[in-house]
Amino acid sequence: THQWRGIIEEYRDRLPVTDTTPVVSLREGGTPLVPAQVLSERTGCEVHLKVEGANPTGSFKDRGMTMAITRAKEEGAKAVICASTGNTSASAAAYAVRAGMVCAVLVPQGKIALGKMGQALVHGARILQVEGNFDDCLTLARGLSDNYPVALVNSVNPVRIEGQKTAAFEIVDMLGEAPDIHVLPVGNAGNITAYWKGYTEYARDGVAGRTPRMWGFQASGSAPLVRGEVVKDPSTIATAIRIGNPASWDFALAARDESGGFIDEVTDREILRAYRLLAAQEGVFVEPASAASVAGLLKAAEQGKVDPGQTIVCTVTGNGLKDPDWAVAGAPQPVTVPVDAAAAAERLGLA
Ligand code: F0G
Repeated sequence: THQWRGIIEEYRDRLPVTDTTPVVSLREGGTPLVPAQVLSERTGCEVHLKVEGANPTGSFKDRGMTMAITRAKEEGAKAVICASTGNTSASAAAYAVRAGMVCAVLVPQGKIALGKMGQALVHGARILQVEGNFDDCLTLARGLSDNYPVALVNSVNPVRIEGQKTAAFEIVDMLGEAPDIHVLPVGNAGNITAYWKGYTEYARDGVAGRTPRMWGFQASGSAPLVRGEVVKDPSTIATAIRIGNPASWDFALAARDESGGFIDEVTDREILRAYRLLAAQEGVFVEPASAASVAGLLKAAEQGKVDPGQTIVCTVTGNGLKDPDWAVAGAPQPVTVPVDAAAAAERLGLA
């Protein structure tokens, strides 16, 4: 009777819904804010991880999708469509099932993690693998929703941003104040836009006494906001953020500038190092793209940009189980033993 009710019920007065809105929810949100011991030691700050992989489909996308599918249902839509690097499609597929809608997804061929493809498949989505990148998929999805009876549920749909801003509310509600710094991975730039909206709303209404500086990190091979120009052929092992032309470009720069923050890049090597650190030293298994926030924080600390004593939140956006290839690759292979205690003890170094 006391379980978290999902972001629409928990933050109803701050979301665009009415008493008669047919809420479609999987009880998303209410995710853990986990103190990060090793990162706190390394930076001399109080670092927390907002673990968004704990959402129903394993990523932060569920916050926006409960709103987008709820709105689509309210408007009588029978079908929804999205372009995706994997997580949006997994989320859209699941929420479409709850709403009794058809879900179509466009993904870049060969560039989405297997777990995410499995989710879209098992939820019964109609999947097209497009011979192009995410940006091409988004162009196609926009065109289809303009010309056919199908609602677009990408973050260019403003209600997605409304849902995702609730993560900032949860952080302030938990800490009692906004952090000094909020760190995020940036791909299509919807999430940094959403957090900034949430933080500024809480500050405007006096729920928080301040707003954080927003620090965004892109993968080096897919860093249009850092370069200041579209990246035609984006590349990175962090497939979730392999995006060359972010839809929320201007909003991301506004979040950066209004908050006094910055958007920088991290290499794939730095991403994987942070990915392993999170799993091996904090006990938090995330997907590679999610580790870009932590990689960025560590890079900034090494550059002397992090004054000690601050409160810092890093959002880790997706669950590690979605893309386990990187966990297995490069790790020592498990040893095989017979059903024999002495042999097992010896191999474990206990004997
Ligand atoms: N982290 C993960 C795990 C993601 O899936 C995404 C985006 C991001 C970070 C970046 O967030 O786009 O709001 O800046 N994934 C989208 C998708 C593009 O299709 O699932 P953003």
